Amino acid sequence: MKAAPHWWKETIFYEIFLRSFKDSDGNGTGDLRGILEKLDYLKDLGVGALWITPFYPSPLHDAGYDVADYDDVHPEFGTLGDFRELVAEAHKRDLKIILDLVLNHTSEEHPWFRESRRAKDDPKRDYYIWRPGKDGKEPNNWMSLVGGSAWEYDEATGEYYLHLFSKHQPDLNWNHPMVKQGTFDMVRRWLERGADGFRLDVINLLMKPPGLPDGVYREGSGKIDGRYVLDYPLYANNPGMHELLHELRRDVLEPYGAATVGEVHFTPASEAWKYVDPRRRELDMIVQVDILFDRTGPKFVKDRVKEWFLAFQGRGWNTMALGNHDTPRMLSTLGNDGPWRTLSAKALAAHILTSPGTPFLYQGDELGMTNVAFGSMDDYRDIEMRRFYEQLVRQGKPPEEAFAWLRPRSRDNARTPMQWTAEGNAGFTAGTPWIGVNPNFREINAAAQARDPDSILAFYRRLIAFRKANPALIHGSFYPLMEDDERVVAYRRLWEGRGFLILINYSDQVSPLEAGLVGKGRLLIGNYPDLPQECAARLRPWEARILALE
Ligand code: GLC
Repeated sequence: MKAAPHWWKETIFYEIFLRSFKDSDGNGTGDLRGILEKLDYLKDLGVGALWITPFYPSPLHDAGYDVADYDDVHPEFGTLGDFRELVAEAHKRDLKIILDLVLNHTSEEHPWFRESRRAKDDPKRDYYIWRPGKDGKEPNNWMSLVGGSAWEYDEATGEYYLHLFSKHQPDLNWNHPMVKQGTFDMVRRWLERGADGFRLDVINLLMKPPGLPDGVYREGSGKIDGRYVLDYPLYANNPGMHELLHELRRDVLEPYGAATVGEVHFTPASEAWKYVDPRRRELDMIVQVDILFDRTGPKFVKDRVKEWFLAFQGRGWNTMALGNHDTPRMLSTLGNDGPWRTLSAKALAAHILTSPGTPFLYQGDELGMTNVAFGSMDDYRDIEMRRFYEQLVRQGKPPEEAFAWLRPRSRDNARTPMQWTAEGNAGFTAGTPWIGVNPNFREINAAAQARDPDSILAFYRRLIAFRKANPALIHGSFYPLMEDDERVVAYRRLWEGRGFLILINYSDQVSPLEAGLVGKGRLLIGNYPDLPQECAARLRPWEARILALE
């Protein structure tokens, strides 16, 4: 049966960082059969689509975002048979399977690259971006997004290849017809195997600017403060980008009714809508990375949500996410993972699940999982953190200072194993986990929360069901309130005469409400057990209220 055309607007997506979700065979790494074991958990939670991070054969330099073979499953993660079984079982439960497609680059171990690097006249040479050096240096001044030059010198032919990410991830040349054809065929094969859609990794970087011109440097605007970074927008939205996505949709995705969500970087809302305008037939949704990567606080988040809503209104569909596998835990950066952990986790949930746009949840956030603080660099696995560390130390920062600065910012904060139970290794694996488990698993785990009607998990279930039952939260218009307030996030959602007022206090302090909002609406859902009369004019610390407007 073909799915309803816009199912992706009405459901909730859940990101599974595969390596850390559930290990079924004791090798210390999460796998596809581990997801199979947890399908009922996900079904009970109420989400409708599972985005699974890359499971393809890979040397795993970048957690699988360095693909060596797009058509198979890494033995650590399972087999193609497991994939088929997962799709069948997910579909039985009305859960969609969304694959992560990494098209900007391959692994250096991909057969295309192995051939490409062999000789200047190799038939696959131009599948990648090779250039001779300039005056004994790199072909241009581009920097990689994980620090250092974006060019790697290759002894075999005496030329450099381009890598916007690590040197293990050479960029493909999307102007080459065979790259396009080979990739489109590969995507079709996954659709034939039952995939319902794709998350498209760094999708707007695929086309490079003609002539690969030098960039302009400015100070301290990258992920590491004080360094000089290139004007990265040069990498994004280059000529041919929109046309390529249109072709992919028309020739490959539309015949299968596949849904897409693109990861779009360095693009303001005022430009980004072009990727999701249904009339242009490119992508269905994009992830708003600016919200994800800036953790300065609620004011920034609410300004961006408004900006994206206005820019997309009448033109394209939005998404809403406050964390993923590339950010530290939202609870530790936007919420309060100390004394207010439970209340603030629920407040963030209320924000995500009542905002305009399809919500994207990240594994473990529904349990209130937090950042981790391992003792030394050796405990960390993330290539980005390691590259940044080397760079800071090279620039003269004492190693302990570099480590202290990077620790709360590391992507590994969100990549520690899912906390299923209070038993050894949090019930994640019977073996040795590939990365340490957050020691707070005895207190924070799914088993304990499943038994507790007041748990964060129970609150997520309730809110998810509530969103699905109320079209005003899905299709309703959005009216921001108390816009200048630094602590309170407030808005109305209205749809066909039904409406909701949402009030969220993003702080440890009591926060007054604007006079016009006092006494408005009837409380439907709140993260405090009751609403005494004297609280009507103010929000308690991390209080979230969803009220019905008659
Ligand atoms: C995306 C992924 C990230 C990865 C990068 C390179 O940003 O989310 O995890 O490192 O692309 O593929």
